[in-house]
Amino acid sequence: VKEIRNAGLFQKTMARLRRQGKTVGLVPTMGALHEGHLSLVKAAGRENDVVVVSIFVNPFQFGPSEDLKKYPRPLARDRRLLEAVGADYLFRPEPEQMYPQDFSSYIETGVADSLRGAKSPLAGLTGVLCGRSRPGHFRGVATVVTKLFNLAKPHRAYFGAKDYQQSVIVRRLIRDLNFDIELRVLPTVREEDGLAMSSRNRYLSAADRLRAVVIPQTLLWVHRQLSSGERNVNRIKKMAKAKLRSKVTAIDYFEIVDPETLQPLEKIQLHMQVVTACFIGKTRLIDNVRIHLHG
Ligand code: PAF
Repeated sequence: VKEIRNAGLFQKTMARLRRQGKTVGLVPTMGALHEGHLSLVKAAGRENDVVVVSIFVNPFQFGPSEDLKKYPRPLARDRRLLEAVGADYLFRPEPEQMYPQDFSSYIETGVADSLRGAKSPLAGLTGVLCGRSRPGHFRGVATVVTKLFNLAKPHRAYFGAKDYQQSVIVRRLIRDLNFDIELRVLPTVREEDGLAMSSRNRYLSAADRLRAVVIPQTLLWVHRQLSSGERNVNRIKKMAKAKLRSKVTAIDYFEIVDPETLQPLEKIQLHMQVVTACFIGKTRLIDNVRIHLHG
């Protein structure tokens, strides 16, 4: 893996590859890589001539009381894993490379949200779910993703479905700002017991790790309920929350939403996304599942 730390050099190197007619796949990450990330890197390798992974713990997407300082940074291990799956380039800038002292331009994905008010039932993609409990988070994500897109100008960009809301917002960003990039969102990779892989799982104590499995189990239960004919969204939500509450420290949100608008559903429909964020101790975990009803 060729590591580049300078943003200007990275941009030039990527431009040279494009001039040589190579297709570029970009996998943006914050490091602490796990099988979920590696599945994105492998897919990028199958679908492009050159695979570029970025590792950047983006300060702008962390709230003041969140885990920016203690976010895991196991760099030597990350490099070994990238080597093993055949990534070609690692872009690993210092924060000053990405955000000079007088940095002052941001990508606001929630303009419609702020016009309507985040509490409005019509609040858009960023005023709901994670955007509600992490104000500014998606502005930070959209800003850094835009910068990475402009630096790498990849043909394809790879994101995991575990961060479902993020993937919907990035899709909207690509459309709204006319990025000529194919968005690839790949399935969540899970541990054997169903827990979605996440860099934050390493914060869990052994006892908390056991409790965390209630999250995928509850999503699966909702999937089974809806697939086997249960029609009452509110009843399912109530029962699912009770299941979660028996094990988790707190539920941030649990919703059944429209997969495109992310608005909570009152009634079932053909396609639905069940989404949740829960605290296990101080660790906040998210997960989601897609439901398609047939006929
Ligand atoms: O999903 C992540 O790891 C981050 O939000 C991303 C997309 C790398 C932006 O910092």
